[in-house]
Amino acid sequence: MADRIYLDHAATTPLRSEVRAAMEPFLGERYGNPSSLHAEGRAAREAVDEARLRVARALGAAGDEVVFTSGGTEADALAVFGAARGSRAKGRHVVSTTIEHHAVLESVAALRDEGFQTSLVPVDRAGRVRLDALEAALHPDTALVSVMWANNEVGSIQPIAEIGELCRARGVLFHVDAVQAFGKLAIDCRSLPVDLLSVSAHKIGGPKGAGVLVARRGLQLRPILFGGAHELGRRAGTENVAAIAGFGAAAERAARDLPEHAAHLDALARALVAGIRVALPGVRLHSPDSGGAPGIVNVAFDGVEAEGLVLRLDRLGIAASPGAACAAGTAQSSPSHVLLALGISQAEARASVRFSFGRENRLDEIPRVVAALKDSVERSRASAAAR
Ligand SMILES: Cc1ncc(COP(=O)(O)O)c(C=O)c1O
Repeated sequence: MADRIYLDHAATTPLRSEVRAAMEPFLGERYGNPSSLHAEGRAAREAVDEARLRVARALGAAGDEVVFTSGGTEADALAVFGAARGSRAKGRHVVSTTIEHHAVLESVAALRDEGFQTSLVPVDRAGRVRLDALEAALHPDTALVSVMWANNEVGSIQPIAEIGELCRARGVLFHVDAVQAFGKLAIDCRSLPVDLLSVSAHKIGGPKGAGVLVARRGLQLRPILFGGAHELGRRAGTENVAAIAGFGAAAERAARDLPEHAAHLDALARALVAGIRVALPGVRLHSPDSGGAPGIVNVAFDGVEAEGLVLRLDRLGIAASPGAACAAGTAQSSPSHVLLALGISQAEARASVRFSFGRENRLDEIPRVVAALKDSVERSRASAAAR
């Protein structure tokens, strides 16, 4: 993939070489099952326990609060179903927001089918949840609130500490989807009023298919998978030892690199926005100008259809995304629910592209990206005008 410029790190990031090195023994000679009593099993158990402590330290959590899952999606599902079903005694009302990842939104929708009442709190044009609206959504029988930290499409950041305080004061459990925050914003579970927090390995240089739910000690979490006492009875199934070992290495490195990494992403995003603004008329920025998750730029190009633009850029060696990876590329992809929730029109949502930076990107790539964008947008506009 020489000469490619990959600007889709919010979809996934490349595996770090040290992460691959940490995984390799468990794809080969250290093949034991961590639940086995013999030496092979104990070696695998040791690796899982070590990775648990590394992830826990990176998130400011305790080792026994870390539940390994198959990814961010399962961590979100375990939080939403597990906490809501585990606190039925408190109530059957669940609150979330209109801009959550589908992993949360669809879990919340499934709870409604089980008889829970659900409320989705709207966001403002900047993609921020209004605290008064969230407070107004809390009922005496609200059992769980689930709000993402950093949005995956526009990078808006929610006031997690303030929302957590509101929940604490009412005895309501609070789940935070921190999949896009991890590695970009400092996370310290000890000092946050948060009960459950989800992260995913492949967004921080770890492997796909590994996630963690941090669940505060003593919390009633009903499992969603059954068949074994793994993960202290919270998640049945033989652990993905290699991926977990990789997650441990990636988490430790992400926490260590955080300030420089965030500054690097921020500089790249600013350079791209400045370049686009000079090169092209008719553009609108949907990601926050400042104060958003570093490295996520979402822009609408008037008169352009995002999927066509992304394909043109791809032919020029640049990878970007018309929204979230899991929604893009589908046959009848609908406009992003996040952009619509921000109050953006269907037409503008369909004209919006997300660029998301990672550690391999360099500032000297930006002029090539801007030139390719200028060429592609002008061609798209010209062919739309000729139709
Ligand atoms: C905010 C957010 N939550 C959850 C997920 C799901 O994570 P995974 O891909 O590990 O299932 C993603 C992935 O894009 C995400 O961005």
